[in-house]
Amino acid sequence: MPDDPYAWIEKDLHTLHRAGWYRSVRTSHTQAGPWLESSTAPRKLNLGSNDYLGLTVDERVREAAIQAIQRYGTGATGSRLLSGHLEIHQELEQALAQFKGTEDALVFPSGYMANLGTISALVGSRDLLLGDVYNHSSLKSGAKLSGARYYEYAHGSVEHLEALLNQERAQARRCLICTDSVFSMDGDMAPLAAILDLAQRFEAMVLVDEAHGTGVLGVRGAGAIEALGLQKHPCIQMGTLSKALASQGGYVCGSKSLVDFLRNRAPTWIYTTALAPGDAAAALAALRIVQTEPHHREQLWQRVQQVKQGLTTLAALELFASDSCILCLKTGTISQTMNLSKKLWERGFWVPAIRPPTVPTSRLRISMMSNHPKAALENFVAYLLQVFSLEPR
Ligand SMILES: Cc1ncc(COP(=O)(O)O)c(C=O)c1O
Repeated sequence: MPDDPYAWIEKDLHTLHRAGWYRSVRTSHTQAGPWLESSTAPRKLNLGSNDYLGLTVDERVREAAIQAIQRYGTGATGSRLLSGHLEIHQELEQALAQFKGTEDALVFPSGYMANLGTISALVGSRDLLLGDVYNHSSLKSGAKLSGARYYEYAHGSVEHLEALLNQERAQARRCLICTDSVFSMDGDMAPLAAILDLAQRFEAMVLVDEAHGTGVLGVRGAGAIEALGLQKHPCIQMGTLSKALASQGGYVCGSKSLVDFLRNRAPTWIYTTALAPGDAAAALAALRIVQTEPHHREQLWQRVQQVKQGLTTLAALELFASDSCILCLKTGTISQTMNLSKKLWERGFWVPAIRPPTVPTSRLRISMMSNHPKAALENFVAYLLQVFSLEPR
């Protein structure tokens, strides 16, 4: 009998368990929101959501999705170039372009696919691709798929990026620099102004992933580019509809020619079914709320300040530098971090433990929402202060 060709999977899973890298899902039984409700256990304060502005359960956003489903049906039925291009896609793309101050926009079925398709369309084997070492997995996978010569620069290091450009740029046909605007597992911001300056000097394109900046940063909520006053610099603004925009899908905003090019060259846009109409309509409704109701953003930042201030009162408690509504707490080993997350869960707080290989060092990742009740956050801070003053790390 030949050996079972699938036997290695069990072994691999065993290794993941032993290393503390094993992951599993936690089933949620209720709608999104600041609380995770359960019929069998006390509710938990949800500090692990990307629904930063709490719009996933906004009646207007839900209603827009329902109306679109009534009008178009549940699915787009085909790819955008065949039967799947709907008026709602067009409306959403126009609204995104206007929001980001670009000529045009293109929506993809997910942010991950937006990055894969855009990067692999823009650069190939004769080109150079440079990315921050802490970039999101989708940017890294896009780099692999593109076949471009790919180098990572040290996190946030303009000096390292410049050194790589000096060393490699002249040999490459085209060059693309990719960076998260807000780093998803750290919460800090990329040095975007310096990156855009370098790009201009070295004739490089820049793709900025605004997944965690959109809706949250900038006076209009347009993201880090807006917050830093960089709208005039040419760059490609990518993002997702699945976080502050309360839906599903991804987008790329840029010049008319860029979008036209991607419609012809991005495989993850051409060869996949278009974004479902309900998702497109929900994102469009959320986008309108983001633009017309700044109080959601103001409330979010008040809560970020509340937790930041509370947690900095104890020296034993170390927060990563953050420019966003993602706050990461330094913890210890993988098992200490897992235990802390478990302890918090038992006490009524859902705070995910983020561990290698996702990040180099374990941490608790707290993501804030505009509709977190202030009193619940006070309890959360008080409990963390208590735990950290008791526990050696
Ligand atoms: C920085 C960043 N880019 C891209 C993505 C992918 O977006 P989506 O969830 O829409 O696929 C994410 C989502 O986790 C992200 O955090």
